[in-house]
Amino acid sequence: MADVRITPSLLNADFARIAEEAARIPSADFLHMDVMDNHFVPNLTLGAPVIESLARSAAQPIDAHLMIEDPDRWGPAFVEAGASSVTFHVEAAHAPVRLARELRAKGARASMALKPATPIEPYADLLPELDMVLVMTVEPGFGGQKFLDLCLPKIRRTRELLDKVGGDIWLQVDGGVSVETIERCAEAGADTFVAGSAVFGADDPGAMVETLRAQAAACRH
Ligand code: DX5
Ligand code: ZN
Repeated sequence: MADVRITPSLLNADFARIAEEAARIPSADFLHMDVMDNHFVPNLTLGAPVIESLARSAAQPIDAHLMIEDPDRWGPAFVEAGASSVTFHVEAAHAPVRLARELRAKGARASMALKPATPIEPYADLLPELDMVLVMTVEPGFGGQKFLDLCLPKIRRTRELLDKVGGDIWLQVDGGVSVETIERCAEAGADTFVAGSAVFGADDPGAMVETLRAQAAACRH
């Protein structure tokens, strides 16, 4: 089976029972936690203290997606809080190479995210500094939005660049990923899939993780 990771977003889970929600998706490869500061995106969610509590109680590692201004300043604190992977937005980072190196030096996977209108090509030379690239398939800020097909060509181009670099840099997609759209993403070259409302809107979130994994794996060989 091809290497596929499902990293459900807890944005649509019940925040008052977040550890119990995490326990409903035991086979999730990571818990995707959406950090929003009401500046980079028009929404406010949670910060490092919540990640720290969840990292202590959850069995799965944490994938922190920082939709915040100045990730250079705040990003390393999320590694200290226990995140295993930290994703910063390149549109917000002042010095993405320095930030990626700092995240790695602290022991986390370093990941760079692109909003739908941000091209990958200007960052091609940075890819060896990263463990993952996140191509957003909605405008960041809210769960439950419609998948943007216009992002598929960028997923394909990113896959080509990553294949040239070699190594094992993951390609994650986030936004509107569901049973309807995951195959398109996998065919375009994504290998790591965030799904929020598709997982936590399902009757059995754990089973939905497995359904999505099987669909994606069938498209990647
Ligand atoms: C959106 C977040 C996503 C979101 C995904 O800004 O980054 O992680 O929670 O939710 P769905 O899967 O519902 O689009
Ligand atoms: Zn996210």
